Amino acid sequence: MKQFYITTAIDYANGMPHLGHAYEKVLADVISRVRRMRGESVHFLTGLDEHGQKVQQSAERKGIEPLVFCDTMADAFKALCVKLEVSNDDYIRTTEVRHKTVVEKILQDLYDQGVIYKAKYKGFYSARAEQFLQEKDKVEGAWPEIYGEVTEISEENYFFKLSEHQDWLIDYIKTHEDFIFPKFRAKQVLEFLKEPLNDLCISRPKERLNWGIELPFDVNYVTYVWFDALINYISAVGYGSERFENCWPVDYHVIGKDILVPAHAIYWPIMLKAIGVEMPKSFVVHGWWLAAGAKMSKSTGNTVEPLDLVDTFGADAFRYFLMREMNVGQDSDFSQELFDVRYNVLANDLGNLVSRLLNMGHRYCEGTVPAMHVEEGPEKELKALWDATGPKVLELYDGLQFHTALEDIFKFIAGVNRYAEVRAPWKLAKSESAEDRKLLETSLAVMAEGLRLASVLLAPVIPSTSRRIEVLLGLPEVMAFEGQLDWSDCLKGNTLGEKVILFPRPELAKA
Ligand code: ME8
Ligand code: MG
Repeated sequence: MKQFYITTAIDYANGMPHLGHAYEKVLADVISRVRRMRGESVHFLTGLDEHGQKVQQSAERKGIEPLVFCDTMADAFKALCVKLEVSNDDYIRTTEVRHKTVVEKILQDLYDQGVIYKAKYKGFYSARAEQFLQEKDKVEGAWPEIYGEVTEISEENYFFKLSEHQDWLIDYIKTHEDFIFPKFRAKQVLEFLKEPLNDLCISRPKERLNWGIELPFDVNYVTYVWFDALINYISAVGYGSERFENCWPVDYHVIGKDILVPAHAIYWPIMLKAIGVEMPKSFVVHGWWLAAGAKMSKSTGNTVEPLDLVDTFGADAFRYFLMREMNVGQDSDFSQELFDVRYNVLANDLGNLVSRLLNMGHRYCEGTVPAMHVEEGPEKELKALWDATGPKVLELYDGLQFHTALEDIFKFIAGVNRYAEVRAPWKLAKSESAEDRKLLETSLAVMAEGLRLASVLLAPVIPSTSRRIEVLLGLPEVMAFEGQLDWSDCLKGNTLGEKVILFPRPELAKA
């Protein structure tokens, strides 16, 4: 059976993980968890991009072998995944044999087909960007800062024919609406394709760069890092084997907007076309996390250390913030203040609901979830709110609208809290009447049910917290949406857990 196959970009090994990396992994993880809860078999891949000049230089500066340097980086990036509870099924490193053999095979095939050819190149080269430049890359007659030192070089290199597939690619993008998400990004690709494509230089002479995969047909060269990196998506799932057939075509390539054009939207489809492999179903292109309007990354140095926030507030709070704050595809600002606002909602709306329920459940009902005896206005109203929320959230999840999905779930949670205010079980508890006792029991049962339902929907985003809530409600682990999203009294008679504070106040959390 075909698995749902999802990938992230593979991160450059030349710098430490940052918020952008964390976000992309959490986004892909949330999508994976939604799919698993929908009953699909998922294969989720992430990994590390280890070759290239920058890695070679970073290792040289430290006086160590590039692979030793990459091992350390792989440990740091894998630790980030663990910390964020990212449920990847595999982790690919481009220095692995399983990857290298596939890159070599593809290079050889393309060379044998004659679509890779050798030619003399004379022109400008940026070591920092690891790329050849043209006059048109100049801004007001000078090379932009991002290219660092630009030198004029003349050398022989290998080129991959891109131009012959240009018309096909334009047509493919125009006729496949779902190829690029969000849709507005497809326009940017088509814009780029208005200019004739130059063939892609896919080699670097070893005297300039030796930290790469050697060309199988010329030992004096290694392959260009993008040609190597993109292939991870197929090498990791056993390109050429039966396993590959179970995964390919990939459902989602999750990437940031800076690597869509030209790498993912131009080079990758043409590479696949040339080797006769089906196109990816979709690119999910997310925006950037910005601090004061500037992209946060290692090259500008204004990186927010994501692991610090995770240590202080927990992985779930951090994941919730990322998914609630960013509209997939758009940029978002990051600041401690914005984080605190979202954290307070978790603590005040969700955390308090849990505390209230457990408190009163132990106080008034011997720690057991009571039965729902009555269904009057307040119960009907909350149920109606739920009926509108559940299916809509699933739809929003499928459409990758996680920020609005979470908004809706928390509107429902606010509804449960409002319901508690209206019923005021703490007042009913003071009454001697049998009628009020029934209302008291109903109100606690309804609060518990509301919490159960919200927690099922929240499971892909805050998996540990959802699991904790399930345990507190005396439930087994919920693995699927199916059958779990109907309003019911399934909790009746369950034993409630001991009182806990799910989201401690920030000052306390920090301490
Ligand atoms: O580009 N906000 O690696 P990378 C959001 N090795 N996302 C961000 C970000 C930010 N501030 N900064 C970076 C590479 N990213 C290549 C990919 S794939 C075959 C090879 C995202 O470490 C970025 O958009 O520079 C990319 O998707 C990912 O982090 C890795 O970036
Ligand atoms: Mg980058």
